[in-house]
Amino acid sequence: MKIIHVVGARPNFMKLYPVWKALDQQLSETQIIVHTGQHYDDNMSDIFFDEFGLPKPHHNLDIGSGSHGDQTAKIIQGLEKLFEQLHPHLILVYGDVNSTLGGALVCSKMLIKIAHVEAGLRSFDRTMPEEINRLLTDQISDYLFTPSEDANRNLINEGIAQEKIHFVGNVMIDTLKELLPMAKSPAQLLDERPLILVTLHRPSNVDDPLMLKEILNMLQEISKETKVIFPVHPRTQRRINEFRFDQNKMEKVEFIKPLGYLEFLGLLKHARCVLTDSGGIQEETTYLGIPCVTLRKNTERPVTVTLGTNQVLGEDLIKAKQVVLEQINKKSIDKQIPPLWDGKAGQRIAAIIRKNIDNIIN
Ligand code: UD1
Repeated sequence: MKIIHVVGARPNFMKLYPVWKALDQQLSETQIIVHTGQHYDDNMSDIFFDEFGLPKPHHNLDIGSGSHGDQTAKIIQGLEKLFEQLHPHLILVYGDVNSTLGGALVCSKMLIKIAHVEAGLRSFDRTMPEEINRLLTDQISDYLFTPSEDANRNLINEGIAQEKIHFVGNVMIDTLKELLPMAKSPAQLLDERPLILVTLHRPSNVDDPLMLKEILNMLQEISKETKVIFPVHPRTQRRINEFRFDQNKMEKVEFIKPLGYLEFLGLLKHARCVLTDSGGIQEETTYLGIPCVTLRKNTERPVTVTLGTNQVLGEDLIKAKQVVLEQINKKSIDKQIPPLWDGKAGQRIAAIIRKNIDNIIN
């Protein structure tokens, strides 16, 4: 059996790692990694392969940046050509980025079996490109590996057959649990003040000059009270430059380049509170019991709110600032880890694939 993993963007790589590793341990089958090239900067891509000890991608389509149509079309064209040569039996796609949908679409037409890792998450907001990627990928997948029980309910409500759905837990937490002891403490960045860690890259926050300006003003206000570190995503940096916002004038906010996994984990471990619009960071803070303020109108990861430490505050920056500042003096927080976020999700996925080899090959 020939298995291909299709990945392309930063949040894919920490999901790939535990699945790759578990398949390597449980099966003797050939595994191939195809990188679409959606993310291409070293610190958005290569560094993760090095840190996880993953093999370098066997194929890279180098599709680069572009509009959604342009990006998705190039992924489809590139993958179709490649799969015509490689004849894979099973493709694994991860999360909700354009590479996920592109990979799934190609396979559905070529009658190649599709496994979707992190299936079933829904924000119920179809203005988000990721929601469209999630919905469509799930409709055409054969194996839907879900991270939480809400995801199972969403899939059943959409008419997906029960036997395709496998509640395996959260693969990102596999990676987090395993690599937490190796986190690099960036001592030179820290001081005795409580740390507020910021990551923002969603178009709704960073593509609108007014919104981005208000967010930066809020960060400046917070930085008068405590330490603020902001590893800046390339999309966000591009917008800051385009809108001619002067980062040098905000001397108390520590703007840094995007970090590798182990350095980011080092900061995360020390954070008193995280301000973000990322999906994965909502989960990581829940697992670590760190308060998380999410600047989005909704979340596809409701379990981080109901069981975890996440507060979804939309565009209410006044409230966000208030909640963040409240955390500075708080010492502890109630924490509950969602079911099956136990570091074994990758192993469960590999076991299901192993059990189904005959169905996959035929
Ligand atoms: C993509 C995903 C998003 C995910 C995010 C994580 C989709 C639809 N979006 O958004 O779900 O949360 O990745 O990072 O798939 N750029 C670089 N270097 C890179 C990559 C991007 O400079 O290595 C810049 C380019 O200016 C590019 C912009 O970032 O135009 C946006 O990149 P893109 O891949 O289009 O989307 P993301 O915003 O990263």
